[in-house]
Amino acid sequence: MKDLKFIASQLRKPSGDFASTIAAKMNDGNKPLYDLMLSSMGLRDDDSILEIGFGNGFHFSELFSLKKNIKLYGIDYSKEMVEQAEEKHSLFIKSGQLFLREGNSNHLPYDGHFFDIVFCNMVIYFWDNPEEHLNEIKRVLKPGGIFYTGLRTKRSMLELPFTQYRFNLFTVEEWSSILRQNGFKVDKPIRKADPGLEENGKRVVLESVVIAAHI
Ligand SMILES: C[S@@+](CC[C@H](N)C(=O)[O-])C[C@H]1O[C@@H](n2cnc3c(N)ncnc32)[C@H](O)[C@@H]1O
Repeated sequence: MKDLKFIASQLRKPSGDFASTIAAKMNDGNKPLYDLMLSSMGLRDDDSILEIGFGNGFHFSELFSLKKNIKLYGIDYSKEMVEQAEEKHSLFIKSGQLFLREGNSNHLPYDGHFFDIVFCNMVIYFWDNPEEHLNEIKRVLKPGGIFYTGLRTKRSMLELPFTQYRFNLFTVEEWSSILRQNGFKVDKPIRKADPGLEENGKRVVLESVVIAAHI
């Protein structure tokens, strides 16, 4: 078994031979949060959407099935995740619906006022200075655009022993307050208990949360 510090560093930035293994673990563990995110986002036909930290993009097909003529852009700073997502979803790329880039969300390679929606799941824990990412998100959102954060409650995250290694954990109230301090208007969070999972031989029930923030 890999040690907890290694798992934490792979969740922060999947890399090398272990990247596929950690991606499979994320796909499995984060499906309930994606289900909540996709059902909570006010998606419309023709929307331009940006996902930050998409992993291997296991949920892209489902997202495209929700509305017509969606354009989905994704940025992830893991070369391995970008490569895997490109390989898995080459048809969406060829048909001009999906645009993936390797890069850091503190410097988004998009024009201002470009997206209707920006979202990320399980990514804010790795933003050592959230302000620089939130400033970029505000810049690329259209007026009236919405930023959705997908996260687990701090209580849930503390059940996962690897989170002691360089995870920046927030309560829902703390993250909502950071969003407000950075100029967003924040809706009431949407919460749902996940089905239980096994973590190091222990049964853990995480709680998924989606927070909509308007500019
Ligand atoms: C824990 S994984 C979550 C993946 C997926 N969103 C999910 O919920 O299963 C975090 C992902 O965000 C990416 N990531 C973390 N910080 C990032 C940043 N500053 N810019 C771009 N990608 C980032 C990592 O490479 C990784 O693919």
